[in-house]
Amino acid sequence: MTALLSVSDLSRHFGGVAAVDGLSFDVNDNEILGIIGPNGAGKTTAINLISGVIKPDSGSVLFSGEEVTGIAPHRLADKGLVRTFQATTVFDQRTVRENTLRGAYLSLFPGFFPALFATAAARRKRSAAEALVDEVLDWLSLTEVAEITAGNLPYGYQKTLGMAIALAARPRLVMMDEPVAGLSAEEADHVRDTIKRVRERGITVIVIDHNMRFISGLCDRVFVIHQGRGLAVGTPADVLSNTAVIEAYLGKGHGAAVDH
Ligand SMILES: Nc1ncnc2c1ncn2[C@@H]1O[C@H](COP(=O)(O)OP(=O)(O)OP(=O)(O)O)[C@@H](O)[C@H]1O
Ligand SMILES: [Mg+2]
Repeated sequence: MTALLSVSDLSRHFGGVAAVDGLSFDVNDNEILGIIGPNGAGKTTAINLISGVIKPDSGSVLFSGEEVTGIAPHRLADKGLVRTFQATTVFDQRTVRENTLRGAYLSLFPGFFPALFATAAARRKRSAAEALVDEVLDWLSLTEVAEITAGNLPYGYQKTLGMAIALAARPRLVMMDEPVAGLSAEEADHVRDTIKRVRERGITVIVIDHNMRFISGLCDRVFVIHQGRGLAVGTPADVLSNTAVIEAYLGKGHGAAVDH
């Protein structure tokens, strides 16, 4: 299998804390890779490093064979690597459609001056973006709520909107940090099915979550991070029965890794 993303020896310290400490892993083309690990393990920091939100102290990130270490998020989005947006990055006063259009502009942005003068090229890009938004909303079952302002959406829908914004950027790889945190079991099942449909479209997915039922029902492989480093990788069943993994969770007072 081809690695779409290859992370090698990535490290990032915050003061005296080694948040990510020599982390290496690969993500295969079109797989769903789960990332788990106790609180404070370095999962979010790893995603922040890969998505260019913060820069690593050392190490490298290859995306589709190209060195992309430390590149800014919008440039990574151009290349097809995006992360989902958290509820806090959604514009509350804007509708679901307007918010999703923002995501589409990450990949189709006509540029300031062309937009200002409404050139033919800018108009073409705008209609391409609008068509893409319609498609993404339909795909995530958001069409019915397209004209509702984001701030008035139930929480579960807000999470799906975060996914819509990311997908409208037409990614090859999308990274999601705790997409089902705070959702009911039924809502989590809906998100799981949506992510499976995302993969069927040829998109590769990295998903972090603490909900083991969600992770094992979704992921091809699971990668465990502990104290900023890789601890285990394999099928969900193998990883969740791995003694070192269970100890990592128990050691932090979280109960068995297979909880939830
Ligand atoms: N901006 C920051 N400044 C200082 N320390 C930070 C910063 N970001 C993360 N850390 C520290 O780095 C370590 C890893 O944090 P991180 O948020 O990546 O963990 P996590 O695996 O995502 O945890 P959780 O499951 O709770 O979300 C923690 O000790 C955290 O306190
Ligand atoms: Mg986190």
